[in-house]
Amino acid sequence: MSTTTWNPQSWRNFSALQQPSWPEPAALEQTLKILSDQPPLVFAGEARDLQDRLAAAGRGEAFLLQAGDCAESFESSADSIRDRLRVILQMAVVLTYAGRVPVVKVGRIAGQFAKPRSSDTETQGELELPSFRGHIINDIGFSETERRAEPNRLLMAYNRAAATLNLVRAFTRGGFADLTRVHQWNQEFVADSPQGAQYEKLAQEIDRSLQFMRSCGIDLDRDHALNEVDFYTSHEALILDYEEALTRLDSLTDEWYDCSAHMLWIGERTRQLDGAHVEFLRGVKNPLGCKIGPTATVEDVVGICEALNPDKIEGRVTLITRMGAENIREKLPPLLAAVKETGHPVVWVSDPMHGNTFTAPGGHKTRHFDAIVDEITGFFESHEKAGTIAGGIHLELTGDAVTECLGGGDDLTDDELSHAYETMCDPRLNGRQGLDVAFRVADLLAAR
Ligand code: PEP
Ligand code: CO
Repeated sequence: MSTTTWNPQSWRNFSALQQPSWPEPAALEQTLKILSDQPPLVFAGEARDLQDRLAAAGRGEAFLLQAGDCAESFESSADSIRDRLRVILQMAVVLTYAGRVPVVKVGRIAGQFAKPRSSDTETQGELELPSFRGHIINDIGFSETERRAEPNRLLMAYNRAAATLNLVRAFTRGGFADLTRVHQWNQEFVADSPQGAQYEKLAQEIDRSLQFMRSCGIDLDRDHALNEVDFYTSHEALILDYEEALTRLDSLTDEWYDCSAHMLWIGERTRQLDGAHVEFLRGVKNPLGCKIGPTATVEDVVGICEALNPDKIEGRVTLITRMGAENIREKLPPLLAAVKETGHPVVWVSDPMHGNTFTAPGGHKTRHFDAIVDEITGFFESHEKAGTIAGGIHLELTGDAVTECLGGGDDLTDDELSHAYETMCDPRLNGRQGLDVAFRVADLLAAR
């Protein structure tokens, strides 16, 4: 990070990790030019609304549910997008009703196409090829053509994000998210489980409350708070060429916004204080996230707050801790104390997924449901002790009936992982497991 003037290109003077090497720089330039002439995907005013809601989450007056795919696919069907949204809406209802707080809903959706990798290349047998970096860069198949960084994919990502966002806006504004349809969100594969049955009971209680309000003469059909939901988008701002090309000056405030999503976050691998990602994001006014792993020091974390939020604006910075269940109770408390001491307003959020990944005996990358719940529990305990606020959770999930994470209500075992292991990157909770997490978190929230 520098103290010199920021502009949308100033990140280019810093070291940018995790960028692909583009075989055809001229084609890249041409694509970026086209991209920078495209309409914004989101509006600055929406990003400001989200920041206000995040500020409330930071004060304990709301709770953030940030969830979605690890790596979105360009081939994701409309049904799959709808089902992902449906599980998130179901989880939000559980958290709102049982946890008794307004829930800020942010998807890892409509732009979560780029993945950081631990190695630049992957070797299979004799063949060494570039690693898969997400559909915004290359393809997952292991051939030279599929693994080539293809500039045209940046445009495809933009178009895919626009189409997905359009569907999300239609679902959340066009009646699908109406609270009177709370039963219909319980899709068959989820309904047919103990969590589904628990959800159905809660949905019946909501129905009764709505019926009561109708009987009192309240016109529910015209109440936007009941028949629409505010749903925001987010992704890891990894490929800086793409993020720069979608950055626009807001005509109302004369400030820069990255209009590729409402909220952007910096990953654990790219949060260096002297790196290009921190430099780029410090200049855009969207609410920002930053992942914080077990190696983060007090200096790192306070440095991030100062770099991204020198004016200490509430809701501007969300710190997403991903320590691992066995580390959280030891590693989080010193960070909470240090940040509290500085007076930096932070929305503390738990990502209980990325610190709990391991390889199962059969070779699948997986996570255990119990470790996920344990990390969230340790997160709430640490905040309780420090007198700070547990402000939200960040999850990787899908509405599809996948078998990628172990445990949960169905007690998924090692041997079952191969039944429907579909992720392009990290293991995701399926709909039942997601709902199960929501019920556990609702209990913690009600006691907060
Ligand atoms: C992710 O959120 O998919 C991710 C790569 O996380 P992290 O940066 O925390 O490793
Ligand atoms: Co992931």
